[in-house]
Amino acid sequence: MTAPLLEVIDLVKEFPVRGKGIIPRNVGTVQAVSGVSFTLHPGETLGLVGESGCGKSTTGRAILQLHKPTSGSVRFEGRELTTMSTKQLRPLRKDIQIVFQDPYASLNPKWQVNDIIAEPLQIHGAEGPRGAVQRRVDELLELVGLNPEHRNRYPHEFSGGQRQRIGIARALALNPRFMVLDEPVSALDVSVQAGVVNLLEELQERLGLAYLFVAHDLSVVRHISDRVAVMYLGKIIEMGERETIYNRPMHPYTQALLSAVPMPDPKQERKRQRIVLTGDVPSPVNPPSGCRFRTRCWKAQDICAVEEPRLERRGGPDGTLSACHFAEERQVV
Ligand SMILES: Nc1ncnc2c1ncn2[C@@H]1O[C@H](COP(=O)(O)OP(=O)(O)OP(=O)(O)O)[C@@H](O)[C@H]1O
Ligand SMILES: [Mg+2]
Repeated sequence: MTAPLLEVIDLVKEFPVRGKGIIPRNVGTVQAVSGVSFTLHPGETLGLVGESGCGKSTTGRAILQLHKPTSGSVRFEGRELTTMSTKQLRPLRKDIQIVFQDPYASLNPKWQVNDIIAEPLQIHGAEGPRGAVQRRVDELLELVGLNPEHRNRYPHEFSGGQRQRIGIARALALNPRFMVLDEPVSALDVSVQAGVVNLLEELQERLGLAYLFVAHDLSVVRHISDRVAVMYLGKIIEMGERETIYNRPMHPYTQALLSAVPMPDPKQERKRQRIVLTGDVPSPVNPPSGCRFRTRCWKAQDICAVEEPRLERRGGPDGTLSACHFAEERQVV
């Protein structure tokens, strides 16, 4: 096994909640990310899934130091990022990139594609003979399946899928080794999602990239992930190899999420039992004691309110970690 590219240890990110008075005071704390740990190896993809508001984007941003973590450790190639100054982080910005959900909001609409993709090259002073930046922009456009002759067009002249390809080209400009893909296809038509996911997969193979692929939809990450981590209210509640998570989930929450994903085979689809979760996700300002999922869990007992279940091996398939006192394998069909 190679050394990890990224190690995230007990990452915590809290946001203050301000009151509405004339002099706003802190009246509480949003516990957006509450002790997330995982490692990522070169060339690997970890899918990070969970319902809206569970802290996926905050995790991605805290790794990139776009949100300063409240506590915990983020190590990239052995170097601790959380204690670095902005200046110390600058050279590392080349190695770590992010692609956002909405390609339109993240691309400057007044700029030609050429300038959008060239900007990171210029900021990081990519030296070279005249014309080198232009050649690199054209190469990047080709790499993501766009026609370099369209370099002078503006973002609105492209389709949604093409715009996301521009965002990917920009993120690739400085040859990163790791990318946070924050719901990169969620805003796109289903018909173009697969094309962009396939492109990301091809790029990964060619360039040896590692991905943290964030999605709320389990079916999107199935194809591309090596491992999958499931988040609920700021915590990873289950993590394991892709196939074991999908075929033999241990945690009731993972089981419920998977039971809502339609199956391609109509026979299997008919056989399968849905698990419908009742109630809403509790507020991250005031999460439940003990297990955070217990208020919606059909297996919950007294212990769940008192003792927080740790994310650990619980007799399930090799390597699967679950945070549930009553974790138990369940065949999906
Ligand atoms: N800048 C911020 N200030 C205050 N609270 C924030 C901030 N960013 C996120 N939050 C809160 O932190 C929690 C986690 O948000 P986050 O955006 O990480 O969730 P998410 O899993 O990415 O959700 P989605 O699927 O909707 O993108 C939410 O309760 C959110 O309201
Ligand atoms: Mg998000």
